[in-house]
Amino acid sequence: KPLLIAIDGPAASGKGTLAKRLAAHFKLPHLDSGLLYRAVAWAAAHTSRTPEEAAAALEAADLDNPALRTDEAGQAASKVAAIPQVRANLLKFQKEFAHQASGAVLDGRDIGTVICPDAPVKIFVTASLEARVERRYQELRERGADTIKPRVLAEMAERDRRDSERAASPLKAAPDAYHLDTSDMDADAAFAAALAFISS
Ligand code: CDP
Repeated sequence: KPLLIAIDGPAASGKGTLAKRLAAHFKLPHLDSGLLYRAVAWAAAHTSRTPEEAAAALEAADLDNPALRTDEAGQAASKVAAIPQVRANLLKFQKEFAHQASGAVLDGRDIGTVICPDAPVKIFVTASLEARVERRYQELRERGADTIKPRVLAEMAERDRRDSERAASPLKAAPDAYHLDTSDMDADAAFAAALAFISS
C-alpha cells in the first residue's frame, strides 16, 4: 500500500523541513500546500483573476515562482486562504497529488483534517511562539531581508490568529495525529522523532 504522510502545523514550526526530509527518506513526492495559497494570492495581485478564479486555474508550474517565498507572500496567502471557495477550488489538485500511486508527503494546515483524513501517518508539528519567531527571523536574515524581531513576532502572531480563527478549515490537529513539539529540537532530532513514530 502506498505510504501517505500528512503534516500540519503553524508557521516556522519545522513542518516544511520535516516533510522534505521524510519525502527524501521514503523517496516520495512532496507537496508544500502553502505554496498553492501563495500562488493564488500572487495571481490575484498580478493578473485580472479573482482569488477564486486563480485557485481554479492553478497549475503545478505556477508553484516555481521565486516571488512566492517572501514573508509578504505568506501574509497575502493567509488572507486568500480564509475564502471558502478558494479552498474548495484547490481540493482536487491536492487530493490528486495525495493519492498518486507512488504515495506522497503533504504539508500544510488542513492536510490531516480535510485533504487526507485517511492518511495512515499524521503528524502535527508545533513549537513555542518564541522558538518560531527566532527561526523565522534567522531565515529572513539569511535571505538578506531587512527586518527586526518585534516585527516578525507581530506578523507571526497575526497570522496564527487568522489561521486558527477562520471558519474555513482552521489550523487544527486531526484526532489521531502524533504531536511533535520541536521547540527544543533541531531538524535532525525532529526527523528522528518522526521516523521513530512512523516505524512504531
Ligand atoms: O510556512 P509558513 O506558515 O510561513 O507558510 P505556508 O505554509 O506557505 O502558508 C502560508 C499561508 O497559507 C498560511 O498562513 C495559511 O493561511 C495558508 N495555508 C492554508 O490555509 N492551508 C494549507 N494547507 C497551507 C497553507
